[in-house]
Amino acid sequence: MAVLNVNIDHVATVRQARRTDEPDPVWAAAQCELAGANGITVHLRQDRRHINDRDVRLLKETVACKLNLEMCMAEPIVKIAEQIRPEQVTLVPEKRAELTTEGGLDCAKYKSRLAQVVKRMHKKGILVSTFIAPEPEQILASAETGCDAIELHTGMYANAKTPRAVKRRLTELERGKDLAVENELIVHAGHGLTYRNIGPVAAIEDLCEFNIGHSIVSRAVFVGIEEATAQMIELIDKFSTQDI
Ligand code: PXP
Repeated sequence: MAVLNVNIDHVATVRQARRTDEPDPVWAAAQCELAGANGITVHLRQDRRHINDRDVRLLKETVACKLNLEMCMAEPIVKIAEQIRPEQVTLVPEKRAELTTEGGLDCAKYKSRLAQVVKRMHKKGILVSTFIAPEPEQILASAETGCDAIELHTGMYANAKTPRAVKRRLTELERGKDLAVENELIVHAGHGLTYRNIGPVAAIEDLCEFNIGHSIVSRAVFVGIEEATAQMIELIDKFSTQDI
């Protein structure tokens, strides 16, 4: 059955709007965990626009479930991951001007750097996932470089405007998942997923972990983050295949 990692970057975004000390993402992580989250995801960006080094350090000490560190492959960030040793890293591309992660990582283009990073993460006992478009070239490059998992980019699905486009994007995700499983990769998914669009994705067999941030933190403003997390877990449980 699929599980949920809550991406709490936007709790830190609110804090950074005033450069103050609240709301604290460490508090948010504890509440997500109380609600049954499988993991906590944070993106330590090079510009530190939301999550900062202190957050990652404290989360590593306090999160009892999985800590999934989203990061690019820039050397200073890779060094931080080696020091902190989260349970999992998800490698993403990063552009300074983007509002959020835009495309997937080009694993085929950066294959040799990816292979180096995978080796270094594995030396520290860290699981490696790559955030990629559901394209054969990217899936195979992830497998060939020794990655443990991939996170399929669901942004195109989330942005699809017509039922036909939605169906096409779901088929791409399903095919990508099949190829990844054939190549012994664990398959995660995320980006742009909401309470309204999670159903058909959660129903895809063998998608085992979702990373969801914006929609949960948005709902948390009204109902609290524990309740918002619990509501998303309920939907994932409802739609995901029960392998009992
Ligand atoms: N997965 C990855 C790799 C991401 O970069 C993000 C955004 O930080 C997410 C999942 C979560 O996306 P959203 O905030 O749209 O749920």
